[in-house]
Amino acid sequence: MHGPDAAFWQERFERGDTPWDRGGPSPQLLAWIDSGRLAPCRIIVPGCGSGWEVAELARRGFGVTGIDLAPAACDRTRSLLAAHGLHARIEQADAIDWRPSAPVDAVFEQTCLCAMHPSHWRRYEASLAAWTRPGGSLFAMIAQRPRAGSVEEGLIEGPPYHCDINAMRMLFEDTRWSWPSPPYPRSSHPNGMHEFGLVIERR
Ligand SMILES: C[S@@+](CC[C@H](N)C(=O)[O-])C[C@H]1O[C@@H](n2cnc3c(N)ncnc32)[C@H](O)[C@@H]1O
Repeated sequence: MHGPDAAFWQERFERGDTPWDRGGPSPQLLAWIDSGRLAPCRIIVPGCGSGWEVAELARRGFGVTGIDLAPAACDRTRSLLAAHGLHARIEQADAIDWRPSAPVDAVFEQTCLCAMHPSHWRRYEASLAAWTRPGGSLFAMIAQRPRAGSVEEGLIEGPPYHCDINAMRMLFEDTRWSWPSPPYPRSSHPNGMHEFGLVIERR
């Protein structure tokens, strides 16, 4: 397997080495909810990490399923939910293989794609497409983290792996997904990169 595996992520959580963690829900997620762009529905959060977004969505009345490869991330998410008396379904699973019992209305993907080596991206996109009902939406925070080594030497460096917008257009094909026009909202990230907030619709 190319790139980080479950043991890699488990160890990061156990060491408390989680620089991607904002310590609260994504500002762009809050903006989508507050503007009404994302309203209570059935939603999946892959790579849910510490569970900030899972808890926020549960608090706002969404039917949430959070998935993470790392048992420690699932434990953190369950603890956060319990601390606030909230309910969500939490699955310790590989988002590339896992399937829901029925397609859902929306997916909130924040830095799970960029946590995977690009050799897994096609299978991950197939999962996201299978999870999302026709007319449903993928709310995606796309990590922008270009490095000199990739441009100068062709190195594939990460995580986070840079999610170049051209690669995203190829990955989330027009035959399966309907794209809005740029510019896309931009969120700065505590680890120095920034993310584009994309909402693409499942055809
Ligand atoms: C960079 S962290 C982001 C966590 C959270 N989304 C956030 O923004 O704070 C990536 C997360 O994805 C999880 N992850 C990585 N590969 C995964 C996979 N194939 N399936 C499910 N989760 C995965 C990791 O365990 C980790 O919790």
